[in-house]
Amino acid sequence: MLNVTVVGTGYVGLGTAIMLAQLGHQVTGLDVDARKIDQLNLGHLPIYEPGLDVMLAENAERLTWTSDYTSAIPHADVIFICVGTPSLPDGRPNLGYVESAARHIAANLNGKVQVIVNKSTVPIGTGDWVTRIIEDATDPQHHNRYFVVSNPEFLREGTAVSDSLYPDRIVLGGDSVALQRMRDLYAPLIHQNFTAPGHSPRPAEYTVPAVVETTLTSAEMIKYAANAFLALKISYANEIAGLCERVGANIDEVVSGVGFDGRIGHRFLAAGAGWGGSCFGKDTSALITTGQEYGYDMPILQAAIDINSRQRDIVLEKLRKHLRLLKGKRVAVLGMAFKPNTDDLRDAPAHDFIQRLTQLGATVIAHDPVAMPRARHEWAYLSYQEAPSAHAAVRQADAVIISTEWSEYRALDWDALALSMRTPIIIDARNVISDPLTVHATIEQIGKELPKPLAVSLGVTA
Ligand code: UDX
Repeated sequence: MLNVTVVGTGYVGLGTAIMLAQLGHQVTGLDVDARKIDQLNLGHLPIYEPGLDVMLAENAERLTWTSDYTSAIPHADVIFICVGTPSLPDGRPNLGYVESAARHIAANLNGKVQVIVNKSTVPIGTGDWVTRIIEDATDPQHHNRYFVVSNPEFLREGTAVSDSLYPDRIVLGGDSVALQRMRDLYAPLIHQNFTAPGHSPRPAEYTVPAVVETTLTSAEMIKYAANAFLALKISYANEIAGLCERVGANIDEVVSGVGFDGRIGHRFLAAGAGWGGSCFGKDTSALITTGQEYGYDMPILQAAIDINSRQRDIVLEKLRKHLRLLKGKRVAVLGMAFKPNTDDLRDAPAHDFIQRLTQLGATVIAHDPVAMPRARHEWAYLSYQEAPSAHAAVRQADAVIISTEWSEYRALDWDALALSMRTPIIIDARNVISDPLTVHATIEQIGKELPKPLAVSLGVTA
């Protein structure tokens, strides 16, 4: 059992802290936001992440929450930096929070061997930079007693619990003394028989994670290269989807056929509204910026970004093709979170849809199963109305855009919903309607040229 402190209680920090408590460690979670700490001390999670509340409750006796560095750092064997690195206007990440965390940590190191772990996705070279900040701020007699490690996370929001308990790989970059401690920290995960009690059963095909031990810089690079590759896969699928529409092919069948090639695989080839979230946009831009700093162009990544932004335009174009003038029209937007099973709104396609539709004079009625309360704060500057249910959003609408593939939207009776609309125009930007031909509506999906609707019983047709 080790003493661990996790600085930052956002999605990454909370997931990491609670997972490490589940592994049996004594964990202190630290955040400068006193409101979050108050909530956590009351046993409430400040974010929505399926299963994490259960794991928090089960491990409450191994978790402490505080805003006080002086009590959280000196006793810690391992200190994680999991603070935010939001994008600056020029695309580079803002490292102000990382710097502040590093300074506070440095001021409270105790002179015994302590390992400081960069878990936030940080630009290549940040590990060395953090080492220098700490070196400058600590007593020279403590030098060589602390070690900076890069241990990038690969958690997906929405499935963070099982991703953290059953990872594909654990990437560790740094000095050998520090890496030994990191192996001790993750020993239960590396051990074949670890099974989390009560939740997130181990996937049948799961074995042990690969442990990749490397240098600080290579570990930092692995995170970026992995995220950029996934972003690239999605943009590739979206680019192919556009051609499918034109030649009369069906993207679902195309990627299914392509994905059976073991070298390619089926995952992250779902065409749709493009990627969103806190990682892909930020990380691909940051990698391009790093390339520029070294005088090195990265045209593949630039193309992936351009395709992703074009994809949002394509969705709106599909709407305008049928609705023509948007002024005074009532458009329902189903799904606000950047993907299902999270309330995270960062870089969500729905944001752009709502913003642009209202700019064009449409009235937007939005719904999301979990993200509406968060949107009330974070999107307060957008003018849209909230609907208590998908049905309520769609009723009397002139058109609907499905922007997040929540399973509750897949399960809707779309034919009945179409009947309740003023004009049944459905832009299914996530291909959730499995049998569009049975729905009496004008339906647009991504990457499919749909035959003409059966018969549109109400209002205008295309
Ligand atoms: C991602 C990485 O998966 C994770 O390893 C990393 O640590 C952080 O970034 P996350 O942003 O939580 O995780 O979401 P993810 O499930 O990867 O989805 C990202 C975006 O891609 C979403 O907007 C999703 O809708 C979109 N997506 C995903 C597609 O459009 N098509 C797909 O086939 C898969």
